[in-house]
Amino acid sequence: MPLVKVSLGTRSYNIKIGGSLLPGLGADCAALKLGQKCAVITDTNVAARYAKPALASLNRAGFEPLLITVPAGETAKRLKQVEACYNQLAANRMERKSFIVALGGGVVGDLAGFVAASYLRGIPFVQVPTTLLAQVDSSVGGKTGVNLAAGKNLVGAFYQPRLVLCDLNALRTLPEREFRAGLAEVIKYGIIYDADLFVRLERDMPKILRRDAASLAHIVARSCEIKADVVSQDETESGLRAILNFGHTIGHAIEAITAYGRYLHGEAISIGQVAAAHLSAERLGLSTDEVERIRALFVTAGLPVELKLSASQRGGLLAAMTLDKKVSAGEIKFVLAERLGKVTWGQKVPSASVQRALDLVQFKPDRRKR
Ligand code: NAD
Ligand code: GLY
Repeated sequence: MPLVKVSLGTRSYNIKIGGSLLPGLGADCAALKLGQKCAVITDTNVAARYAKPALASLNRAGFEPLLITVPAGETAKRLKQVEACYNQLAANRMERKSFIVALGGGVVGDLAGFVAASYLRGIPFVQVPTTLLAQVDSSVGGKTGVNLAAGKNLVGAFYQPRLVLCDLNALRTLPEREFRAGLAEVIKYGIIYDADLFVRLERDMPKILRRDAASLAHIVARSCEIKADVVSQDETESGLRAILNFGHTIGHAIEAITAYGRYLHGEAISIGQVAAAHLSAERLGLSTDEVERIRALFVTAGLPVELKLSASQRGGLLAAMTLDKKVSAGEIKFVLAERLGKVTWGQKVPSASVQRALDLVQFKPDRRKR
């Protein structure tokens, strides 16, 4: 079974990847010598499928688990929900040694992680990601937090889990659209860090889309290795970690101007990465052949690569980019690719270049599907 280590000194932890890991959750938590009481935070969709085996496993290992279920969807990532979780933890006398299990996708992981980071000034937590996006990205690296009306992820903490359990069997029940959205982050790792992974994705995409077990095990493990490698070098995003944001400046702006309702995150960053590839061609000489391979791989994965924008939406998109968390001193900086597998961060880009990249991802009804 693949095991990936996130090396962060005393805060180091393992990521276990394999089929049927959920039944071993209790034994894994026992090995970490965590306190007896714990809370499993999950959402309504995941609870219906996986709360029972998670609780049974914890009970078998001698823990006393409390189930906290939040509504499914991004709206659960809010301070009101954080408070509701605190109240249930306090009512059930959870102590410093008690721990939290985040059982679900990125929403549950970010929310439960933030609750763990702040309840009693911090109690341990374990991530059990159940979406592809959460297994390859959000459960690893310690970014936790919730949204404000003013924007996404504006309140949070860097707080590392004690263990991440990626049970690949959970991916079998994931809706197709959510699965494809997770692939956008996997493709991202190929572009930013590992040209061989990119080539493998080009070759294996049909098998991956069929959710072939061996292919999934490989892409989840390789994605986690890359994320662990980056986070181990730059936990709090003072430099290198920014490369994980390839395609995200435009992607986040697309999510914002469509009120987080039209595109899933993975879909928005798919368009964002294609736009970033065009920018990379103009600014850093990424070859047109590589730009086309990037675009084609997102298409093969069933992800959008263009969008329809009116002139006023275009203005809104540029304004939204300047509000992104990654803006510093009013300057938008991009992560751009020199070639497949090699990117640089902190690239200042004139707005005329951004406009040209947006022209290239503008939906054209007569564009022939290639
Ligand atoms: P999500 O958590 O909303 O899950 C998507 C949907 O799938 C939900 O309806 C959920 O109930 C359902 N679901 C989850 N697992 C399932 C399963 N196994 N079977 C059937 N249904 C299942 O969305 P997500 O895409 O996992 O995460 C998105 C969130 O992650 C966003 O809030 C984003 O900001 C955050 N994020 C965080 C980081 C980070 O580093 N912390 C990185 C990327 C994204
Ligand atoms: N998903 C970006 C990061 O973890 O830094």
